[in-house]
Amino acid sequence: MAEPFLVESPDVTYSKDYIEAKYTYSTVHVCKENGLTKVRPCSTRFTFRTGRQVPRLGVMLVGWGGNNGTTVTAAVLANRLGLSWMTKTGRKKANYYGSLLQASTVCLGTGPAGDVYVPFRDLLPMVHPNDIVFDGWDISSLNLAEAMRRAEVLDWQLQEQLWPHMEKLKPRPSIYIPEFIAANQEERADNVLRGSKAEQVEQIRRDIRDFKEASGVDKVIVLWTANTERFCDVVPGLNDTAESLLRAVERGLEVSPSTLFAVASILEGCAYINGSPQNTFVPGAVELAAQRRVFICGDDFKSGQTKLKSVLVDFLVGAGLKTKSIVSYNHLGNNDGKNLSAPQQFRSKEISKSNVVDDTVQANPVLYGPQDKPDHCVVIKYVPYVGDSKRALDEYTSEIMMGGTNTIVIHNTCEVRGEWRDACLRTGGALHGAGGSARAPPTPLCPAGLPAGQSHHPGPGHPHGAVPAHHLLHRERPRVPGLPQRPLHRGLPLQGAPGA
Ligand SMILES: NC(=O)c1ccc[n+]([C@@H]2O[C@H](COP(=O)([O-])OP(=O)(O)OC[C@H]3O[C@@H](n4cnc5c(N)ncnc54)[C@H](O)[C@@H]3O)[C@@H](O)[C@H]2O)c1
Repeated sequence: MAEPFLVESPDVTYSKDYIEAKYTYSTVHVCKENGLTKVRPCSTRFTFRTGRQVPRLGVMLVGWGGNNGTTVTAAVLANRLGLSWMTKTGRKKANYYGSLLQASTVCLGTGPAGDVYVPFRDLLPMVHPNDIVFDGWDISSLNLAEAMRRAEVLDWQLQEQLWPHMEKLKPRPSIYIPEFIAANQEERADNVLRGSKAEQVEQIRRDIRDFKEASGVDKVIVLWTANTERFCDVVPGLNDTAESLLRAVERGLEVSPSTLFAVASILEGCAYINGSPQNTFVPGAVELAAQRRVFICGDDFKSGQTKLKSVLVDFLVGAGLKTKSIVSYNHLGNNDGKNLSAPQQFRSKEISKSNVVDDTVQANPVLYGPQDKPDHCVVIKYVPYVGDSKRALDEYTSEIMMGGTNTIVIHNTCEVRGEWRDACLRTGGALHGAGGSARAPPTPLCPAGLPAGQSHHPGPGHPHGAVPAHHLLHRERPRVPGLPQRPLHRGLPLQGAPGA
């Protein structure tokens, strides 16, 4: 644990209930006038107020009975109970490796002995994952203990210890529209809601209220970790505005289950995080969230091979190499792989995996012309025998000086019985997603580019005004610790790359 610290700055004041911080947000505006590029530094003054009492947080997972859902619930329980278990390589203890908030640090500044690092979680009052109360929905009726066994992720001795706790947890019936996920999922769909789309949205809203009341939590976040759906067409009059989307729900027109969950969450004032690649956030959903000032975000967890890709391409192109070909091959045998073996669901994943290089390429007109892009091929194969152990092979070929090429090949195996499990890795992603939006919220009191509750990270198909998903590591990385740092550390420049 880090020592608690106090910011001594005229811009930061502490009271019993709040931390209030003044912050100048400096940006640079670039425009072309009469053929000349003009650069104008500009700044906006914000005041952030952060509550010092963290709320009691409830997280409702859509797809609770899946590999992610069961693993995140089991991991939190195991940490809360302080469990340990024997494996063939010795005793293992519950931990939060892979969670940005729980297991990474941020540089606070420089002291007499050099740089001072503090755990990310200690920057601001934040919910600890051990205190999260879980609930959720699944189209499969298995209780969480049986679903954990089906997932084949955790060691058996750990499962045995968790069993009595997990057994009591049962997913609520969910919205199931068969054409959105692979036909091979039908056999597990024995826990589904009936009725019109409007009635089902009403039921999800009742579930949220019921959970909130029964558990006594102050705040609920809904997180989609259910199967990847096919993309939805964005159609004027159907889902292009908040009004048309709500009308489409009333009339029973085409709206995906993930968008129906988003609508229900937004109407209940609950933040909604999307962990899968489909375009849940059609423009109407983003507009509805903006109108109701509800936080929505997410465009696939992007925690495994896709994260590596966004880091590596950024590194290669950032180093001045012209990456010309990216080939990514995967095989996996879990239910996610089974669902992705269907063409339309694979297509959603393919788009999501391909998008991560676009920002990098667009940011470098020295190497890439307007129509110039690397060849990019993504293959995913379903091989049941390997279960939750995902095998990924990536090959990156780049042009270097004077006609040479550079080829990097990476083989990455997420062993079920090794130290780095696929679902565990995603668990870290799910936790920092939920934890990040569950700190006592900093409330901007003065002009804000994006007032509280109006920031979106919607990914594909985002309309004007939303914050687009960014995949450039060197631009994104300093912003992450910067988020909690800003409200607190005013007067202290960010300890990151210049221009962050
Ligand atoms: N590293 C990774 O593997 C990774 C990375 C990014 C994103 N994801 C995405 O995360 C999601 C979950 O992955 P997983 O391995 O836990 O998959 P999973 O198949 O084990 O779990 C998904 C669960 O969702 C349930 N489900 C399907 N449709 C539903 C609905 N309409 N309502 C409620 N429940 C529903 C299924 O019954 C299943 O239990 C997938 O979309 C996957 O693509 C995974």
